[in-house]
This record gives sequence, C-alpha cells and structure tokens, in this order.
Amino acid sequence: TLGNIRKTKPGTLRLAVVTTSKYFIPHLLGPFCEQFPDVDIQLNIGNREKTIERMKQGIDDFYVFSHPPQDIDVQSLEFLDNPLVAIAHQDHPLGKRKSISLADLCDEPFLMREKGSGTRYAIEELFKKHDLKPNIKMTIESNEAIKHAVMSKLGITIISAHTLTYGGQSGLIRLPVKELPIDSHWFFLWPTSKRPTLIASAFLKHIETNGRKLLQNELDRSALD
Ligand code: PGA
Repeated sequence: TLGNIRKTKPGTLRLAVVTTSKYFIPHLLGPFCEQFPDVDIQLNIGNREKTIERMKQGIDDFYVFSHPPQDIDVQSLEFLDNPLVAIAHQDHPLGKRKSISLADLCDEPFLMREKGSGTRYAIEELFKKHDLKPNIKMTIESNEAIKHAVMSKLGITIISAHTLTYGGQSGLIRLPVKELPIDSHWFFLWPTSKRPTLIASAFLKHIETNGRKLLQNELDRSALD
C-alpha cells in the first residue's frame, strides 16, 4: 500500500521531461518529496525528440510532453495548460501597440528553438496555418538563452508562458498578438506495458490531487498580461 512507502526504502522515481517543462516539474517534486522523503528522483531533461527516444527505450516511469508522439502505446494524463505567447524587450516599439497580428511578427528578427523542439514544432504549425514565415535570425537550443537574447534586444520570440513563471519575466513584455496564444497542454505519459511501481502510482495521485492545481495557479498568477 502507499503507506508502506514511508516505512521501507522505496526506490526511485524516474522522469524524462521536455526542456520546457523544467520550469514547473521541480515544483511538483517539492511537495511530493516532502510527503515521501525516502524516494530518490532521477530527472532527465531533453528536447522533444530526445525524450521520445528515451520513451521508445522504456527507461523511465513517466514522460512529460506537450505534443505527445502518436505512434507509441502509452497511457496519458492531461494535467496543465501550456500557452505559447509572444514576448519582446520591454522597450520594443511593438509593445506600444494595442493589437498585433502574426504577420507583424514576421517583420521582426525571430529567435527560434532548434529542430526537434516541441515549441518549434508548434510555432511552425501556426505560421504554416496562416501562410506566413517567421524571419529567423537565430536558432538557439535553450529557452533560457532565447529569453536572454530577447532581453538583449536581439529579437522577439514565441515561448511557453511557463518560462515566465516563478519570477522569470524580468525586463520582458508579452505582445498582444491576435493569433496567440497557441493553446497547447501538458501531458504525463507512461507505458501501457509496464506495471507502475508504488512510487509511480503515488506520484500520479499527487499530480491529480494537488500538483496540477498548484502549477495552474502559478501559471495564472505570474504569466505576463
Ligand atoms: P521543447 O518541448 O522543450 O522540446 O520545445 C516543449 C514541447 O514539447 O512543447
């Protein structure tokens, strides 16, 4: 039973998550580890492509994606919104405009994530749908480096609002682009074939009962308006 987890050395919870979820996954783990202090955690962070690779190898208990792959036999739990929003430096001229269109963004140098990134995939789909192309000035393999490049006025970007939570928005503004946000969502995935460990079941329960509420509140409170 779950109560027994507290009494015996219960082992390890293995998670493989996409880079954009690293802003909130530790905030899920905090309260979980307080409840189960003997559980060890292995947290692997990679982009969408790398995380899919790990899932194919069946290494971990849970995987986190906003664009889960369709061709692998897994169960999933949708647990959180993942709005993708446009951001600029607070002095950027577009910041003065009340309404901006996606076409307006194409005139600006755009900072784009690397191939294999789920964020990039979602942005490309949106531009394609509107028959537009972003003016990609830099390709950068990190949300953090992209944010710092925006702070340093190298360009604008579309990024998950989660990267702006927990105090991460300094010097940035959100642009009111009509076609945004991209409304995606976060999912926990786990293999159908593998019987969840007791720890994994306890973790899933933690997400469903407290975790998702905690994260959604932080997102609603601190994402830029
Ligand atoms: P990324 O993933 O970190 O690969 O961009 C985010 C996502 O899957 O939406």
